[in-house]
Amino acid sequence: MTDTRENWSARSGFIIAAVGSAVGLGNIWRFPYVAYENGGGAFLIPYLVALLTAGLPLLFLDYAVGHRSTGAPPKAYEQLTKKAEALGWWQACVCIIIGLYYASVLTWAGSYIYFSFNQSWGADPEGYFFKAFLATSDAAGFDMTFISHLLWPLIGVWALVLVILYGGVRKGVELANRIFMPLLIVLFSILVIQALRLPGASEGLNAFFTPNWEAMKDYKVWLAAYGHIFFSLSVGFGIMVTYASYLKPKTNLTGSGFVVGFANSSFELLAGIGVFAALGFMAHAADKSVQDVVSGGIGLAFIAFPKIISSLGAGAELFGILFFTSLFVAGVTSMVSILEVPIAAMQDKLKWGRAKAVTIIGGGTGIVSIALFSSANAIKLVDIIDHFINNLGIVSGALVSIIMVSWFKRSLMRELELHVNSISTIKLGKIWEFTLTVITPVVLLSTLGLALSALLQKGYGDYSMSLQLWFGWGCILFCAIGALFMSSLKNR
Ligand code: ALA
Repeated sequence: MTDTRENWSARSGFIIAAVGSAVGLGNIWRFPYVAYENGGGAFLIPYLVALLTAGLPLLFLDYAVGHRSTGAPPKAYEQLTKKAEALGWWQACVCIIIGLYYASVLTWAGSYIYFSFNQSWGADPEGYFFKAFLATSDAAGFDMTFISHLLWPLIGVWALVLVILYGGVRKGVELANRIFMPLLIVLFSILVIQALRLPGASEGLNAFFTPNWEAMKDYKVWLAAYGHIFFSLSVGFGIMVTYASYLKPKTNLTGSGFVVGFANSSFELLAGIGVFAALGFMAHAADKSVQDVVSGGIGLAFIAFPKIISSLGAGAELFGILFFTSLFVAGVTSMVSILEVPIAAMQDKLKWGRAKAVTIIGGGTGIVSIALFSSANAIKLVDIIDHFINNLGIVSGALVSIIMVSWFKRSLMRELELHVNSISTIKLGKIWEFTLTVITPVVLLSTLGLALSALLQKGYGDYSMSLQLWFGWGCILFCAIGALFMSSLKNR
């Protein structure tokens, strides 16, 4: 570790930041709608299997790679083996792409805190979300219409995130997490308790916890689980590599990993419980089944919660404010971690100072994000980019990092294992090796193959080919070019 490289003030700072990164929109916004779309109860078992067979083993690998090399992914992988620098840049580019749309969903959450005060959505939350708020275009292709009320919140979100990043690792990232994470835990606990007290909550929980064996035969449910787990845990796209690189040399890595993994999944399950309890309430009030009360999809949180709030009567505002503030707070700490990856990568490679890296990388990504997502295409782009980057971008980067050490450089895997075991309480052993050598690669190869063939044959959703080419395949191409170009440059 060089003298000038920043680090966490203590292991607790790292754990809080790692939990802050993992717990984000993925847990509160994405998990409930993915679970809902994949049959509710059908999703939980694939999710847990994906966590144990891919999420946690990769979390430990990411920690090992980042901690041993003390660099962001390009430098970290390069130190493992020269040619692997491109893999690190691939992951850094994936983060830039995620940052683009992550900010957009964050602004929706921020706007909905405000809307909750007077229930701006009126009698039709669905119409309000798609039409009045997002002004979603009916055009098949890209629609240039500019939506001014989406612009200002976007600028605000980017300004907040950049200010935190300018502060650096300790005074920015760590400090923000030390403030936001306790706040999130308090807000979210109140929310879940409130949700559980709603009449009909148990119907929702039954829908969430009853396994649906029939639906589990559908490979798409498994794809969705594996496509979600990395995003949720912040593994496979450089975040945990980067965060672990700021740790002091003697740190209990596996102990920290279990805390982070446990906290993340607990939050995810809590979010599922909160959202399904609330859906149960809606079903109860409308005398329908849980699956029939709202259409799923990425608007779930922004449609279901307003509907619930509207039917709650007095005191309902608090419910909305709690939910959307939780979503916002959780998202900010994750967004910071997403951008930290390319910023730290540029600092390593070109020896840029912190301020310069934040301004160029953070500011540049922000400008593109603001331009794209203050248009009438916002929700379509979020959906398309999220699908492509999760199922192709993250999964392929994760797969390559795993097989690189478990298939092609076994000696490295042993080295990483020894490194982790020499400083950690819980030791990695045969189970970890076997999972990363056999189970995870086989599962991820199949996942990737199925996702690719579905996209090549049928495309995604009913979006026009031009939107999918530009924003789905275009993002994948951006990562490929970025990886090749950046790794071809000489290190400063
Ligand atoms: N892990 C972050 C989330 O779940 C990216 O939102």
